[in-house]
Amino acid sequence: MSKRMSKKFQIIIGTIAAATLVTSCVSRGNNTGWEYAPDMYYSKGYEPYNQGDSNVINPHGMSMREPVAGSIAFGKADFQYPLPNSGEGYEAAATQIVAPADLTDADGRGKYLYNIYCTPCHGANGDNDGEVFKKVSTLKPAWKGYTDEYIKTLPEGKIYHTLTYGKNNMGSHASVLKPVDRWRVIKYVKQLSAAAPATADAAAPQDSTKKN
Ligand code: HEC
Repeated sequence: MSKRMSKKFQIIIGTIAAATLVTSCVSRGNNTGWEYAPDMYYSKGYEPYNQGDSNVINPHGMSMREPVAGSIAFGKADFQYPLPNSGEGYEAAATQIVAPADLTDADGRGKYLYNIYCTPCHGANGDNDGEVFKKVSTLKPAWKGYTDEYIKTLPEGKIYHTLTYGKNNMGSHASVLKPVDRWRVIKYVKQLSAAAPATADAAAPQDSTKKN
């Protein structure tokens, strides 16, 4: 290699070295450079209810699978209702469905809930004179009121069945009354039912201190 060549060579090497030095010291923020297996850097944030386009395996594109049919949340065993929504289920409820032995209603919750959910149709005393029945009398049941023999002798289990699934013009109340409250309301219905018709009529509907 001639002297001139070696000088040229030195300049080239020097330039490359200087360029490398300058560019490799440039700040590139958070850029980590090359990434192998990017899934390990950026975890996939699976959304329980929606993975939309990317989850093609599970039903509805959801990351979370639907619970197995009949699954019940921990501590909510009383939500399990064994009878089907059918005529046979309704008949079976008469003997199979009974109120919990330790049912309490110290603060009159049964009456409180009855006044919210049931009076619009059945009226404050169960005389079927609520605003809805007044307005659309064709909705009314065949029996006149709770003091009728029909309700007096109606097994509590059947009422529970009716509250759970609904019956004809009466809708299900399962979404607004948890099981223990259904029983409290049923006890209150039976209380109204046991009252003699005259007493039920005489009591002022708004009187919250009596008959509790
Ligand atoms: C939308 C009006 C409506 C509301 C609200 C309503 N019911 Fe009824 N209920 C009815 C009708 C209508 C029937 C008659 C169903 C039938 O036998 O065709 C009925 C039937 C009943 C029966 C007899 C059930 C049976 O097995 O024959 C009971 C007891 C009863 N209701 C209690 C309640 C209670 C307690 C509530 C409140 C949690 C309530 N209802 C709310 C309309 C209503």
